[in-house]
Amino acid sequence: MGTVAALREPRTTMGGVNLVVGFRPELWSRIVPEETPVGLTGFNRDLVGPDGYTMPATQHDVVLWLSGSAYDVVFDMAREAIAALEASGSVAEESSSWPYRHDRDLTGFIDGTENPSLIEAPEFALIPEGAPGVGGTILLVQKWSHDASAWEALPVARQEQVIGRSKDESVELDAKPAESHVARTDQDEFGKIFRRNMPYGTVTDHGTMFVGFSAQQRPLTAMLENMAGLTDGIRDELTVYTTPVTGAYYFVPSTQSLRRWGAI
Ligand code: HEM
Repeated sequence: MGTVAALREPRTTMGGVNLVVGFRPELWSRIVPEETPVGLTGFNRDLVGPDGYTMPATQHDVVLWLSGSAYDVVFDMAREAIAALEASGSVAEESSSWPYRHDRDLTGFIDGTENPSLIEAPEFALIPEGAPGVGGTILLVQKWSHDASAWEALPVARQEQVIGRSKDESVELDAKPAESHVARTDQDEFGKIFRRNMPYGTVTDHGTMFVGFSAQQRPLTAMLENMAGLTDGIRDELTVYTTPVTGAYYFVPSTQSLRRWGAI
């Protein structure tokens, strides 16, 4: 844990790399139980809907998310991190992402419209003062493979019914279908989270890397259960065109907490 906590992004004021590190909840709680959010668990079992639709559990011990304005700095930093961690572990899975048409995911829809603003986000994403793990956050990472041909064969009006928003401007539909994605993940019902859908992959094999942060685990799991149809038998229609291939939860400690471990 000390080695992970000691990883640092390059010291530069421009063109740098942002580094987020997260730990398997059970690993973190074994070492720092007093700083673990109550009841937090990994993605330890596949989530299976009533029709057998499966969101696989592919939990690993540690996640590193590096982002930067250019791939070369991210590449170099990732290789340095892997080298630093060589004695304690190896890479179980790797994925690279890139922006698509400014702020769209690979469905072609605008991503993040209903995110809380950056001013509000800490309230929903960070563990509050007085709670174990203060200043940290709970992260859900899920890789979704897209059936691009099936999706692109739909007329835009049908795609809009599937998402529940308009494609050009991301306006919520007046009557959004119960199986639409935004109805299945409605934050008025489940609570707000802070998320980003990043395109990954090649021209022939690609999809979305879902990254969601929350101060509590429940909104994240509740959204997944509702997408799979576990609550009322209605499955998110987006899941007809996208298939989850990974799924894991991580505890992301505050920088203050990491600094303590990195000093060891
Ligand atoms: C293939 C994977 C996914 C794609 C392409 C996708 C795409 C989208 C799009 C286009 C929107 C509408 C614009 C916006 O508000 O961002 C949206 C909304 C949303 N998505 Fe997803 N999403 C995916 C997976 C997920 C997952 C796994 C979760 C939760 C665990 C999730 C949670 C949400 C939430 C909370 C909203 C806003 C709902 C509201 O209006 O309150 N999404 N997503």
